[in-house]
Amino acid sequence: MRKLVVVLALIGGSVFAADGAAIFKAKGCASCHQPNADTVGPALKKMAQAYSGKKDQLIKFLKGQADPIVDPAKFAIMKPQLTLIKNLSDEELSALADYILSFK
Ligand code: HEC
Repeated sequence: MRKLVVVLALIGGSVFAADGAAIFKAKGCASCHQPNADTVGPALKKMAQAYSGKKDQLIKFLKGQADPIVDPAKFAIMKPQLTLIKNLSDEELSALADYILSFK
């Protein structure tokens, strides 16, 4: 049973990967975060590099439980955005993190 849950979680992860992009758009994140260029916010690529191998830490940041590491001086602009995603499920946050990390 436990194995089955793990397998389902893995399958779910890959299915949800597509949703990470949709959540990113739907929540307006794309208006400040471009794939390769820094605009109002840092480029997705820069965020993916900073969080490479640190998906758990990225999810904590998205939950408002970890300090910023990419551009802390501008966190005042990013902080209110976290309220837009505070009701996302763990699966959705995981997909969102996967989407961000895919820009490495
Ligand atoms: C109004 C512009 C704006 C919007 C909208 C926005 N961000 Fe940001 N974001 C920023 C800025 C500025 C920074 C740099 C400050 C920082 O590093 O926390 C940032 C930083 C980040 C970081 C890096 C955090 C770190 O460790 O430094 C992540 C991840 C992130 N944003 C994700 C998101 C997501 C997901 C959304 C959509 C819910 C979003 N952003 C919407 C402006 C924005």
